[in-house]
Amino acid sequence: MAKEKSIKELEDLPGVGPTTAEKLKQLGYDSIEKIATASPHELSELSGMKLEAAKQAIDAAKQATTLDYKTASEVNEKRRLLGRIQTGAKGLDELLGGGIEANAITEAYGRFASGKTQLGFQLSVNVQRPVESGGLGGKTLFIDTEGTFRPDRIEQLAKAAELDPKQVLDNILVVRATTTDQQILAIERADKLVKESNVKLIVVDSLMSLFRSEFIGRGALNERQGKLNVHIHNLQKLADNHDLAVYITNQVMDNPGILFGDPTTPVGGNIVAHAATTRLYMRKSKEDKRIVRLVDSPNMPEGEAVIKITPDGIKD
Ligand code: GTP
Ligand code: MG
Repeated sequence: MAKEKSIKELEDLPGVGPTTAEKLKQLGYDSIEKIATASPHELSELSGMKLEAAKQAIDAAKQATTLDYKTASEVNEKRRLLGRIQTGAKGLDELLGGGIEANAITEAYGRFASGKTQLGFQLSVNVQRPVESGGLGGKTLFIDTEGTFRPDRIEQLAKAAELDPKQVLDNILVVRATTTDQQILAIERADKLVKESNVKLIVVDSLMSLFRSEFIGRGALNERQGKLNVHIHNLQKLADNHDLAVYITNQVMDNPGILFGDPTTPVGGNIVAHAATTRLYMRKSKEDKRIVRLVDSPNMPEGEAVIKITPDGIKD
């Protein structure tokens, strides 16, 4: 058998030449680990590699990545230390296993007025509480792509939580992004800020609206998904490196492929679906009631919680 050459760079993978490697890097697959965890369809769709070639590259990348085996109790210990941000509604916290998780991306999708932004505001306040009181004792970086950030609403939530409104507002760093480039840069350049300001929550409200308005038509889809992939990988990296929580909101469309039941589907395709650790589907119910469905979670069963959007914030 031919001696296998050790795989260190993307170029060392079978079927990946320098051009493909460069393209993959631009699409956010900048390490062997990322190739190893990609799906063959996603990789081939984005890079233009044949499906079979993508499969082979992924297999080789899997074999080349050394794994650090941990016992379940070590993993459990790490998880216990990670912490969560409570939402203000006990039922929703229980559904989530204690609140919105750090080191992970939580996505809330739903139609307009379903409460996605309101939950983002509430988390931006709650994260500032100390760990013992259901927060992460840190600040919020809020990327507002729709121009719907409302400081006066934050003030109201802070007062209701018996926190100093001025201080709560000072602890929320807001970026109003009007182009995908601004949105991407705001995250790409956030590393230093996150560390120095002790940011423990990043909100992107909403993830897809600018991408959808800038990249129109099927022809632009590959480029859009490539850029989106880089953006999401950067968010995940910040979550991992700084033990922070990422909360993204997402728009929906009706999936014509679903003939029975609720056709409401989050936009963004596989890339978003794959990246979000936990997905929440929010639906408007009577008056101030909202139904939150846990759609996708690594460790909690599917289920629903009913919350209320009150003047004082999110409640049971
Ligand atoms: P889109 O961004 O349009 O997709 O919707 P969204 O899901 O972000 O909705 P959002 O979180 O903005 O929820 C809007 C709803 O929250 C409104 O219809 C109100 O019912 C409620 N809401 C918004 N602001 C306040 C407020 O200041 N007080 C109270 N009590 N409710 C509010
Ligand atoms: Mg909104």
